[in-house]
Amino acid sequence: MADVTVRAPAKINLHLEVLGLRPDGFHELAMVMQSIDLSDTLVLRTTADAGIRLRSDSQELPTDGSNLIVKAAQRLRDRVGLPELGMECTLHKRIPIGAGLAGGSSDGAAALVGLDALWGLGLGRERLHGLAAELGSDMPFCLEGGTQLCFGRGERLEPVPHAGAAQRAVLLLKHPAASVSTPWAYARCRDLRGDFYLDNEADFEQRRLALRQGPLLKALAGSALLPPLRNDLQAVVAPEVESVRLGLDLLRSQPGSLAVAMSGSGPSLYALFPDLAAAEAARRGLEQELVELGFEAWCCRCGGSGVSLVADGSPP
Ligand code: C5P
Repeated sequence: MADVTVRAPAKINLHLEVLGLRPDGFHELAMVMQSIDLSDTLVLRTTADAGIRLRSDSQELPTDGSNLIVKAAQRLRDRVGLPELGMECTLHKRIPIGAGLAGGSSDGAAALVGLDALWGLGLGRERLHGLAAELGSDMPFCLEGGTQLCFGRGERLEPVPHAGAAQRAVLLLKHPAASVSTPWAYARCRDLRGDFYLDNEADFEQRRLALRQGPLLKALAGSALLPPLRNDLQAVVAPEVESVRLGLDLLRSQPGSLAVAMSGSGPSLYALFPDLAAAEAARRGLEQELVELGFEAWCCRCGGSGVSLVADGSPP
């Protein structure tokens, strides 16, 4: 079969609320996740020898069995009971690594969708959902994309009604020297506020309801002003990572942004703008400080979809 090309977009968290600790050791979360049009691209082809191989244009990325693309391929092949299937993946990496933008999860989700097509399995997204949730908490969101409420570990999705109406955009910052481990951020969160966690389903559901009916969802569905954004991991990470504090201050200094926050477990930061032109104007306004402080910056639109097959098969 011909090569299959898949686009894997990043996400930001518009809301990340840590509700409690679950019996499985994961945290119970209430989040709103948003796809953005900063994407990696995977080109997949079959191999004759049942090998599973990954190569990438990024020097920083492991390409062994710890990579979610390789894990996804192995798990999918095991699940359908066809050990003779092989694949070779070329990954064009654009999403910063270890940034809280779900780059690794999106690559893994893209591998599932791409291999379903390449290997002619015909499973479809619904049946890939369970496999995605086994591989990573953010992976089901990456499959679906758009604007979604994400509950449980992050894998229980509810679409946000009418969220696609506004063409918002982000100015995204990340310091290349900073990287945050997600397990570290959650463990630190537990150390700092473990006694204040909710511990029962009724209280969890009350918080979910508050989010569904709260000002953020109203603003996303219409033109109401965005409330200040909440990310509980920001208070955990910012005291430890100087570039997070500096980047947040820099973004807050920009007039015209709708809101500023850290994404996921960081250390990437973003300011939300009404449109791409406003985000680009803010980037120009900050050019000198960004260079002096050594930040990398991207302007991108908020997107309406998760991983997608690229019809013409051409890499970026
Ligand atoms: O599911 P994923 O592999 O992305 O999670 C990475 C780590 O982040 C977990 O091993 C866990 O330490 C932490 N985590 C958590 N609660 C969640 C999601 C992730 O504690 N809901």
